[in-house]
Amino acid sequence: MSFPNHRPRRLRTTPAMRRLTAENRLAPADLILPAFIREGLTEPSPISSMPGVVQHTTDSLKRAAAEAVELGVGGIMLFGVPAVRDAQGTASLDPEGVLNKAIRDVKAEVGDELVIMGDVCLDEFTDHGHCGVLDAEGYVDNDATLEIYGQMAVAQAEAGAHVLGPSGMMDGQIAVIRQALEESGHKNTAVLAYAAKYASAFYGPFREAVDSQLKGDRRTYQMDAANRREAILEVELDLEEGADMVMVKPAMSYLDILADVAAMSPVPVSAYQISGEYAMIEAAAANGWIDRRGAITESVLGIKRAGADTVLTYWASELAGWLKES
Ligand code: PBG
Repeated sequence: MSFPNHRPRRLRTTPAMRRLTAENRLAPADLILPAFIREGLTEPSPISSMPGVVQHTTDSLKRAAAEAVELGVGGIMLFGVPAVRDAQGTASLDPEGVLNKAIRDVKAEVGDELVIMGDVCLDEFTDHGHCGVLDAEGYVDNDATLEIYGQMAVAQAEAGAHVLGPSGMMDGQIAVIRQALEESGHKNTAVLAYAAKYASAFYGPFREAVDSQLKGDRRTYQMDAANRREAILEVELDLEEGADMVMVKPAMSYLDILADVAAMSPVPVSAYQISGEYAMIEAAAANGWIDRRGAITESVLGIKRAGADTVLTYWASELAGWLKES
């Protein structure tokens, strides 16, 4: 078992040899494109902390979805930015509300050729920016929020979403959503549970992307970055409650969690390479400090290698284009 019998470099000699022996591969079908649509926009609006990402108009969102289909991207995760917000996030339930309408518009554009996913969470719709409604003390009220999530889920399923992505980290959210879907006849609408979602500083640019009003943080409902074992509990609970797929989020600072979840999950595992991860690489590349394409490809491959079956990344379409050409 020793030198010179073994020379690992033999398998690295040519691009063809490296390609043949690669343990992991990226494919466009594994990628999910998160996309933002803002109500009342006439032109796509750039998000300054996420260079290259925009808040879409209906037309530009439809074009982005059609392009994703062309490139073989697996899915699209939609986030809505409403014109009017209130304490209860009422606009999330309006069938004509920005997110429900976007789901319908994208469905009309691409049909079943792209898996259409909707964000089931209140933070984009509440004037206080929290993922749920508040009680008299200003604490996020878990069970009152669940009721609204159930109604949101039905509204999004009715609009044509194939998959719902509850991202609010309320206890019991998967069970309530599953039950609401079954009772409303949406038995084939799947749920991608944001199972192990951590309170993270790397969500920063997302706040700009959705014009978030949040003051304070989400530490009473999202997980603590110190915790590893607890991720397994969150995944087990979501599986019991009926999750069809589970997610770890963020990705790059949580690859140990992703590997743990991939090792125990009987359902497909997603990872979300979030806004701050995108921003860091774009900023370093813009300064000429790292090679942009190399860093993007390596970062997503690392997430795959850690155990993700699918990856939500703002580079989904661009990366799919590179994969197609090579
Ligand atoms: C909550 C939600 C957030 C993200 C996705 N869904 C924000 C948060 O939890 O604070 C962040 C995604 C990203 O940063 O790219 N609806």
